[in-house]
Amino acid sequence: MKFKDTATFTNGVEIPRLGFGVWQAKDGQQAYEAVTHALKSGYTSIDTAAAYKNEESVGRAIKDSNLPREELFITTKVWNADQGYESTLKAFDESLKKLQLEYIDLYLIHWPVADKYSDTWRALENLYETGKVRAIGVCNFHEHHLTELFKTAKIKPMINQIELHPKLSQEPLRAFCEKHQIIVEAWSPLGNGKILTDSTIAEIAKAHEKSPAQIILRWDLQHGIVTIPKSVNADRIAENTQLFDFELSAAEMAKIDALNEDHRTGPDPDNFNF
Ligand code: A2P
Repeated sequence: MKFKDTATFTNGVEIPRLGFGVWQAKDGQQAYEAVTHALKSGYTSIDTAAAYKNEESVGRAIKDSNLPREELFITTKVWNADQGYESTLKAFDESLKKLQLEYIDLYLIHWPVADKYSDTWRALENLYETGKVRAIGVCNFHEHHLTELFKTAKIKPMINQIELHPKLSQEPLRAFCEKHQIIVEAWSPLGNGKILTDSTIAEIAKAHEKSPAQIILRWDLQHGIVTIPKSVNADRIAENTQLFDFELSAAEMAKIDALNEDHRTGPDPDNFNF
């Protein structure tokens, strides 16, 4: 099975709107099994990062799935300590090796390390131009980071992966990204699992006979947001794919939009320390 719903980057490459995130999936058996379940459940897009320290397990699960490489969409990210031109190129080669792949579909800058990200971006442009990655982008960039990057970038970031969920809906940044044809991707779309008990979401879930997680993920899809829920539980991995047989009404979308509190579960990109 393949989810047909995709978003298209400025270069024509498509990313599935529903992907599988492996942040906090422990290296070894846990990450291996989670990715194996995900691939069996129909996900074709897997989002990892050097910093998650599970690229080897992710790579093994991809290899053992025997799925054709061109049907998969693999994302990884350069970690903060590796930012800079040469060090990014080196880090990329290490990620590629760990993942046992010949190319990456999407390579991202993980955080906007202030004095480094424009050099890091030049390395990503090089990787893109030499065909080692099909698309390049950033994570956790505020509008001012993007504006700064535009000054030196030859290629604009194709995607911005940010913390985004109903309690942090990021409407101004989404509008800015849309204006610049940058696709928005949500990390921790379920607020790290902490917003699943919200009463408004529960009420909408009941009306559709769906789970709160499915309602939130459907809200992402209807807003055109690429979403990468994480789970290490086989049932929940499968549950999070059942998003294509129902639709939220405009009134339900508005009710979920109104839940925004600008509440982060992770660090503010202007104030991270790792
Ligand atoms: P688990 O891995 O045990 O399933 P996010 O993607 O926003 O960071 O959220 C991930 C958290 O949400 C994890 O703790 C995960 O737990 C939990 N989670 C993922 N999918 C579901 C679901 N369908 N129902 C309940 N909890 C979920």
